[in-house]
Amino acid sequence: MGSNKRKISIIGSTGSIGTQALEVIEKLKDKFEIIALAGGHNKELLQKQADKFKPKYTCLGEEGLEKICSDKENDIILVACSGKIGLRPTLTAIKNGIDIALANKETLVMAGDIVMAEAKKHGVKIIPVDSEHCAIHQCIKNIDQVEKLIITASGGPFLHKSLDDMKNATVEQALAHPRWNMGKKITVDSATLMNKGLEIIEAHHLFGFDYDKIDVVVHPQSIVHSAIEYKDGSVIAQLGLPSMHIPIQYAITYPERYEGIKSKSFSFSEIARLDFEKPDLEKFPTVKLAYEMGKLGGTATVCMNAANEEAVFAFLDGKIKLYNIYEITKKMCDEHTVIKQPTIDEIFATDKEIREKTKNYIQNL
Ligand SMILES: NC(=O)c1ccc[n+]([C@@H]2O[C@H](COP(=O)([O-])OP(=O)(O)OC[C@H]3O[C@@H](n4cnc5c(N)ncnc54)[C@H](OP(=O)(O)O)[C@@H]3O)[C@@H](O)[C@H]2O)c1
Repeated sequence: MGSNKRKISIIGSTGSIGTQALEVIEKLKDKFEIIALAGGHNKELLQKQADKFKPKYTCLGEEGLEKICSDKENDIILVACSGKIGLRPTLTAIKNGIDIALANKETLVMAGDIVMAEAKKHGVKIIPVDSEHCAIHQCIKNIDQVEKLIITASGGPFLHKSLDDMKNATVEQALAHPRWNMGKKITVDSATLMNKGLEIIEAHHLFGFDYDKIDVVVHPQSIVHSAIEYKDGSVIAQLGLPSMHIPIQYAITYPERYEGIKSKSFSFSEIARLDFEKPDLEKFPTVKLAYEMGKLGGTATVCMNAANEEAVFAFLDGKIKLYNIYEITKKMCDEHTVIKQPTIDEIFATDKEIREKTKNYIQNL
């Protein structure tokens, strides 16, 4: 990074990833200059952040995001908003040659082919913030020699609960994640394991691996953040305490590494044991659905993402049960006619159509 400060903007600065990113930046004050901060609805917090970090400008809601992502003064933009909002600004930033630290996995789930092709065309780096993909990014040296990717999953709050417990779970129980403190949407996705489904698709696009070469293993301690297996059988994993500060810092400072916010040194003896098990696809059929939709490609993953997101919102509003999220998403996927190589307009049109269809379906239940 040399002596110059890296110029950064954060989309979703008021969220879980955004606030943790600002904690990292506070520790590394001399390394960063903040160009813009953007939040969704939390005006008060955005104002507090502006007073403290003195960005050149802020914006609230979707309108200002295009302006931020067209501002070539940025060296890097952290896309940390939730859901479909991330896609358009990410594409704008890429077209303007600005590197991306990507937390918003929905961007790749919706339009991974287009986003990765545009990034290649404009010579833009996409550095993953998701801890699993950040782990793989750190492990990979010679990508041609990698046999497969191994993504770990904590298993969420229902890992060792019965299917019935899961079916009757309250919103409070679904939001009680044992390892990670995250935004509500991703926390519910972690309870159904749809989060892992989205991550499989994200990994396929980021690293260019076929779905048959991406495995998922449940690892409740969340110490091994993911691994890769080389063709010769060697397995390289990335380990660390479960803190999002580390992958956020890695992504926004890449390729440099700094002490930053590291709270304590890693100790194998304190951790004592690491467990691994196969995911139970009967209890968590979202993972199977994600593989199927990922293999179909095109708008199949757009449909799955839109239906899931609307069903998660309905669950959080108390309109449906936790397990209905999967059932509704599956129904929408079964009824969807896939467009194989969609344009960006077709992606947004599919997203809109499926959201409306899902909302109507839930209303009439
Ligand atoms: N949290 C984690 O540990 C974690 C880990 C890996 C990946 N991710 C991914 O990172 C993304 C963010 O997750 P999160 O947990 O940080 O979510 P979150 O806490 O819900 O934060 C979402 C952010 O997006 C903003 N936002 C919402 N609507 C907006 C709009 N219309 N225009 C502009 N901004 C808007 C929110 O602003 P307001 O709050 O002001 O409304 C907030 O700043 C997700 O895609 C998630 O899958 C998160």
